[in-house]
Amino acid sequence: MCGIVGYLGPLDPKEVIITGLKKLEYRGYDSAGVAILHDGKTKQIRALGKLKSLEDKLSSEKFNGRLGIGHTRWATHGAPSERNAHPHQVGDISLVHNGIIENFEEIREELLKQGAKINSDTDSELVAHLICIENKKTKNLLTAVQNILPRLVGAFSIVVFSEDQPEEIVAFKDGPPLVVGILPDQLFVASDVQALLPYTQNFVYLDDREIVHIQKNKFTVFGPKGKAVNKEIVELNWSPELTEKQGYAHYMLKEIYEQPRAVAQALEPHLDVSQFCVKLKKLGFGTTSTQQLESLNSAEDWKKTQEVFKQTERVFIIACGTSYYAAMIGKYLLESLAKIPVEIDIASEFRYRSPVIPKNTLVLTISQSGETADTLAALRLAKSNGATALSLCNVRNSSIDREAHGHLYMNCGPEIGVASTKAFISTLALLNALSVAWGRIKGALTEAQEQEHVKALLAVPSQLEVVLSYDKYFAQAADRLKEFKGFLYMGRGLQYPIAMEGALKLKELAYMHAEGYAAGEMKHGPLALIDDRMAIVMLAPSDQWYEKTISNLEEARARGGHVISIGTGDNEKLKRVSLYYLSLPKSHWTTSMLLSVVPLQLMAYHLADNLGYDVDQPRNLAKSVTVE
Ligand code: G6P
Repeated sequence: MCGIVGYLGPLDPKEVIITGLKKLEYRGYDSAGVAILHDGKTKQIRALGKLKSLEDKLSSEKFNGRLGIGHTRWATHGAPSERNAHPHQVGDISLVHNGIIENFEEIREELLKQGAKINSDTDSELVAHLICIENKKTKNLLTAVQNILPRLVGAFSIVVFSEDQPEEIVAFKDGPPLVVGILPDQLFVASDVQALLPYTQNFVYLDDREIVHIQKNKFTVFGPKGKAVNKEIVELNWSPELTEKQGYAHYMLKEIYEQPRAVAQALEPHLDVSQFCVKLKKLGFGTTSTQQLESLNSAEDWKKTQEVFKQTERVFIIACGTSYYAAMIGKYLLESLAKIPVEIDIASEFRYRSPVIPKNTLVLTISQSGETADTLAALRLAKSNGATALSLCNVRNSSIDREAHGHLYMNCGPEIGVASTKAFISTLALLNALSVAWGRIKGALTEAQEQEHVKALLAVPSQLEVVLSYDKYFAQAADRLKEFKGFLYMGRGLQYPIAMEGALKLKELAYMHAEGYAAGEMKHGPLALIDDRMAIVMLAPSDQWYEKTISNLEEARARGGHVISIGTGDNEKLKRVSLYYLSLPKSHWTTSMLLSVVPLQLMAYHLADNLGYDVDQPRNLAKSVTVE
């Protein structure tokens, strides 16, 4: 979850590294640092807090070297502090690290016995010590790194250089992502392509247990057995502006406002708007490289997808965080529209609960980043038990995307705000399209029903525009929410996962206690919490669950709870019984959750912003969770 940047080339390494780290701050932001060569010596500068503190420290610093590495940290071992910040320097060696070294205690003991002077509480510094010892023996950084790797247990990536070999960087990945950025006369390494987009569009994605040896104007990748391997160079076509705030106060606000477009972009490749049908495009079951996926014949690919779906008897959907709430919605949709049994799991539970994975199972992983460690491990477990793996993710060529058999893309552009918004909504749109397509393939839906669903989906972007135009009412409601000591978000059916997501948003951003509940469950416990300091956020759009939801709302009111309700159109009843009534445009029951999540996102955003919290980088969190 930390962010790493390394650079070797003619530009000022300080500029390249800081530019890159700014794009990676979503990965961790409790401290940051750089190590850059100057007059042949390493200058290491680190600062506690956000990147801005490091930038301030660096403003008067000059470097004349061609090489440097930088890091922005999300603490695992050792509290956030300057001495625990990376890079760690031991002798000639400077190292940045992302992930966890599980056997660090044993290594620490051993190093202490040998008289090593350990300056931090991190597992990372220990790796720098091991490399330093080997480098002294071998006088070869690459060999030194190769020699110590068998000692390390865990999931981690490291980037390292040595002052005595000033034109070389060595990086190793086993878990957290690393990419090599390529230009004819300069080379980069980073945790994410976003860090390097201002400089290059050409990337090599490292696979697990690969080492890259970066030298002046050339790089070599070595596989797990130490042999050089040929890697595909992937050319992206991303504009660096996609990762700018473009006039919005925060990335999160920008991303919320991008949602109408995000839904349209997610659906665009898959909907035939003349026939109102769904033809999932380029899922690529059976392809093995990006190039193959790009050059697929659509008709053949669609045939293959249909075969896979026909033979699937059971689906498992696995994800974490907000993506898990999308998985809950996926279950409702796939079971009702495609009549296929679906199990859902939080990835960290799935991987440790000895799941029974029957024959003809398809595992669908949902992950915006495509790097979440638990989701990746769950995918591997499912694959090793014979399941077909379909990934629904936003970041092409991410670890999960690369390891899955089939690929669906959110296609919503980079999501920078730590709390997920537009990726969630794109996922819901795709899960809907997937369920409709699958329903047709299985014969569970008629052509007319398919057309009805596609029309409903096509209406979503403009309906979302309408919802966003009510933002000022959401801001007003948020202002009232400050008064309450606790929050219960409730809904039924497709609104139940939205209630969970709404509560999560409030926790993540405003640090307030909120619970998401199935409205029908309220009487089995949470009702005891209700008094006049408790706010009930009730999701009650006009759907098949409406009447039952209203009964639950009355139960809450009878106990003194104050209600903020979200419903369809001009609902007099809801207006009468609510402290605030927030109205949504009329929509189909299978798409209404795409609309109802928006007021919840915006209320949490405004509340947190009013309280002075950093909405883009909430405390203690990180966007890409590459540790388990
Ligand atoms: C982190 C983020 C969440 C996200 C979750 C899963 O906790 O803060 O916003 O939902 O990871 O991320 P993924 O990339 O797998 O969807």
